[in-house]
Amino acid sequence: MENLATAFLGLSREERSLLSAIESGMKAHEWVPSSIISDISGLPARKVDFLLGRLFEKKLVERESLHYLGYRIDFDAYDLLALSDLVAKGALNAIGERIGVGKESVVYLGYGDMPLALKFHRQGRTSFKHVRRLRHNLSNKSRVPWLYAASLAARHEHQIMEKLCQEVSVPRPVAVSRHVLAMEFVSGPPLNRISLSDPVNGLELILAEVAKAFRMGIIHADLSEFNILVAESGPKIIDWPQAVEVTHPHVRELLERDLANVLRFFQRKYGIRVPLEEALQRMEGAERI
Ligand SMILES: Nc1ncnc2c1ncn2[C@@H]1O[C@H](COP(=O)(O)OP(=O)(O)OP(=O)(O)O)[C@@H](O)[C@H]1O
Ligand SMILES: [Mg+2]
Repeated sequence: MENLATAFLGLSREERSLLSAIESGMKAHEWVPSSIISDISGLPARKVDFLLGRLFEKKLVERESLHYLGYRIDFDAYDLLALSDLVAKGALNAIGERIGVGKESVVYLGYGDMPLALKFHRQGRTSFKHVRRLRHNLSNKSRVPWLYAASLAARHEHQIMEKLCQEVSVPRPVAVSRHVLAMEFVSGPPLNRISLSDPVNGLELILAEVAKAFRMGIIHADLSEFNILVAESGPKIIDWPQAVEVTHPHVRELLERDLANVLRFFQRKYGIRVPLEEALQRMEGAERI
């Protein structure tokens, strides 16, 4: 989408209710007939056809000629539905600039009671790795597996961060809708983009956070210098959708990999050498996994 905020502001209430009707219709139809969109939205057929034409021009719906004219929506429309839900929930008042583009997400600045990071998950679209990984959670086979994968990732990340934020230094999650997670905005660069004045202490603080998460039964499983933001108050660990619980069969491997990534970075950038064994010893109970 060219400009999220502009698209959001340009959407009328009726257009939004049509997108929402298509979303509901997609539970039963791959391509939702306009008659059903009219039924679900409660808007008259002629008006629905006119509005669908407009949404099609805005590239917010896709259209297919079958023995009927069917419609479906894609991530762009889901983005707008999620945003309008976050606004309705009172979590969000304004959208700012794009602050991050990852392999599997896009992150925007937002404003609610405080500055927010709005993470739009994109899992199912960019790779099927996550879809496969999350398949055991996909109770009912969805017609939109990519949205399911992305929503599940957002919900999982929200749940993990909600639990962790009591004790571990992570952004506080604020709300989740579909594939979008709203969380506290962390002001500070990622670890890879700054030079720490006291790297020994920096490494200590990071290992302490990993240990706290581990004590709560959670392993990040994608920890690196890119997923640690350095705020004035200290390191904040972000990017938790792939986190696993200590009951995971590969938990030891994942914990070791997380620690090794951090240690390797500190060795390369600051020449600090801490053996993996020593870092593992700080993880209370690691000998049992
Ligand atoms: N709470 C936050 N506060 C400030 N910036 C954030 C926050 N969350 C994410 N970001 C920014 O967005 C970027 C991407 O976020 P995140 O690492 O969670 O997603 P990602 O899709 O996994 O990215 P990648 O695949 O590149 O690791 C981060 O590198 C960071 O710059
Ligand atoms: Mg990341």
